[in-house]
Amino acid sequence: MLPTDYRDCGYNDNMQSDFLAVEDLPEYSVLTGDSMRVLPSLPAECIQSCITSPPYWGLRDYAHPDQIGAELSPADYVNNLVALFQEVRRVLRDDGTLWLNVGDGYARNGGTGRHGPNAIVGNTKKLIQKRNCKVPDVWGLKDRDLMGLPWRVAFALQEDGWYLRSRITWVKKTPMPESVSNRPTTSTEEIFLFAKNQKYFYDRDGFREPTGANLRNFWTLGPDSNSNGHPAAYPRELARRCILLGSKAGDLILDPFAGSGTTGIAANELGRRAILIELNEDYVRSCRTRGEKVQRDLYSRQTA
Ligand SMILES: C[S@@+](CC[C@H](N)C(=O)[O-])C[C@H]1O[C@@H](n2cnc3c(N)ncnc32)[C@H](O)[C@@H]1O
Repeated sequence: MLPTDYRDCGYNDNMQSDFLAVEDLPEYSVLTGDSMRVLPSLPAECIQSCITSPPYWGLRDYAHPDQIGAELSPADYVNNLVALFQEVRRVLRDDGTLWLNVGDGYARNGGTGRHGPNAIVGNTKKLIQKRNCKVPDVWGLKDRDLMGLPWRVAFALQEDGWYLRSRITWVKKTPMPESVSNRPTTSTEEIFLFAKNQKYFYDRDGFREPTGANLRNFWTLGPDSNSNGHPAAYPRELARRCILLGSKAGDLILDPFAGSGTTGIAANELGRRAILIELNEDYVRSCRTRGEKVQRDLYSRQTA
């Protein structure tokens, strides 16, 4: 049985099929809801590439009971991501790819001051605060241990059948300031390239080094200058590169953690179609507003 909270996605209860008719969806579709519930409504093997960044464990509160990233244990977070990406693998074409940006974090214990584990991040308090700053009892974690979450997720996905093909280091031009004196400031994140099968579509000419050489696996990127109201948006250029390398014009791109819709916008600008899934209604609105603007811009360019 399909959930009923799909809006603006072309689905209605009278449709014969149990799956969404993805070929009838607009170029830029935003589906509202929990990806774990929405993904099963997509037919198998319809997506060429999934480009996404799930919430990082224990960092932000996305104000929804079904959000990923608020699990009590980081081990449950890894398991939830594995389950979710099983659905992504089902909807990927046989030669499809997954480009996954995941961030790390530190296990913390104690402290109630204005800094450290109880510090206010943007408008939200760290979720860890709600857990009374208990270091999770898993993986031998101690106070202030780096959890190594990106690689834990990568290994779990590999074990689940994904082909792990590359680790790209995103070097941040303007990293978040950290008041630390006993370690370097964190200024990189991981982007993993996974394939559904051993042979997969990868267009090495889609994006090259300025010298013409094969693209290297570290990308120095700054944040986008125009604010889109999302606290954790990745740069459009990051999505653009993954799309250029992982798909052809006309292909369907998926982002099951859409946020402000960066992946969908980059996809449309490059002549690909996009399906975005987002849980938080405010971000769904932001996704739609940004998508409509891109559609208008593309239309006026075509008709100019
Ligand atoms: C790191 S942000 C993605 C930001 C996005 N890449 C951008 O550039 O705007 C992760 C998003 O996933 C959403 N989210 C969390 N759990 C979800 C779930 N179970 N299903 C769908 N979306 C979810 C959050 O609301 C948040 O907006």
